[in-house]
Amino acid sequence: MTYHHIPAMPNEVMFYLNCQPGKIYVDCTLGGCGHARAICEKISPNGLLIGIDQDRDAITNAEFALQPYATNVRLFHGNFSRLSHFLSELNIAAVDGILLDLGLSLHHLENSGRGFSFQKDEPLDMRMDVRIPKTARDIVNHLTAGELKEIFKNYGEERWAKPIARAIVKARNQTEIKTSKQLVQIINKAIPRHVAADQRIHPATRVFMALRIAVNEELEILDGFMARFADYLNPNGRLCVLSFHSLEDRIVKRHLKTLEKGCICPPRMPICTCGKKPVIRLLAKRVVRPSAEEITANPMVRSTRLRAAEKI
Ligand SMILES: C[S@@+](CC[C@H](N)C(=O)[O-])C[C@H]1O[C@@H](n2cnc3c(N)ncnc32)[C@H](O)[C@@H]1O
Repeated sequence: MTYHHIPAMPNEVMFYLNCQPGKIYVDCTLGGCGHARAICEKISPNGLLIGIDQDRDAITNAEFALQPYATNVRLFHGNFSRLSHFLSELNIAAVDGILLDLGLSLHHLENSGRGFSFQKDEPLDMRMDVRIPKTARDIVNHLTAGELKEIFKNYGEERWAKPIARAIVKARNQTEIKTSKQLVQIINKAIPRHVAADQRIHPATRVFMALRIAVNEELEILDGFMARFADYLNPNGRLCVLSFHSLEDRIVKRHLKTLEKGCICPPRMPICTCGKKPVIRLLAKRVVRPSAEEITANPMVRSTRLRAAEKI
């Protein structure tokens, strides 16, 4: 199997993670192992990389790609929401750095055959972990028009959510929607022609993104992880998160802001009674974006946002 992915913002990620020999790091989203390989280089000879991915293809690739560092690597096929479980399997209480590089890899779009891309004609699946029960096909064929509209609006910020949802329900009354191509044709018909012609992006972009987020419960899982990540870090341990759209970034930013804050007593209180202390400090006050050179070399990274923090 060839696994294709170009890591986003590798220099910035390595700068903020500040990996040290002998320490323990978690790459929660191995993908094509670009970042994981760079981490292994830095932590050798006696550090440890715990590598996680919910996609079996990524783990198969990692077994090969990280072979030169095998003694420094432990791999887990599963969701990063289960990090505490993986750490206890290794008898590790806390680590020195965590990387999340969210979303899809190029492999998903180009070679997975699971309907992530609106440019291909594939079964409408969209599961990153094929062990989870619900596929995109289940969602488009079984949810009500109202439920579909909510998914397209909330997870895709799709302006035409309602007509697209209605068109899906109408089309599936004729025949089940099984493929990405069928869905693209329905979306194309649901959006007025002059609107579609004016859009900078393909008319199906937002619906495909929304379905993928819904199938993999991406935002709920990120929210849960961001609420707990600091428990898994040693003092001075670092978190780096690469996100690819504003819905993800908003979640990351909100949690970091809460954890960065100390006392939350009302200003009129003479002394602090809440006892809240800052848990982290931000390593970059603002979101970090890819350089112009990186965007020119790899336009796919243009919407990437990096946030980094250190546990106090
Ligand atoms: C953008 S790619 C990571 C690319 C990687 N950093 C590299 O250098 O090649 C995202 C990967 O994260 C995985 N992933 C996404 N959400 C996940 C989750 N909740 N748990 C585990 N893996 C996840 C996907 O299967 C995909 O392989």
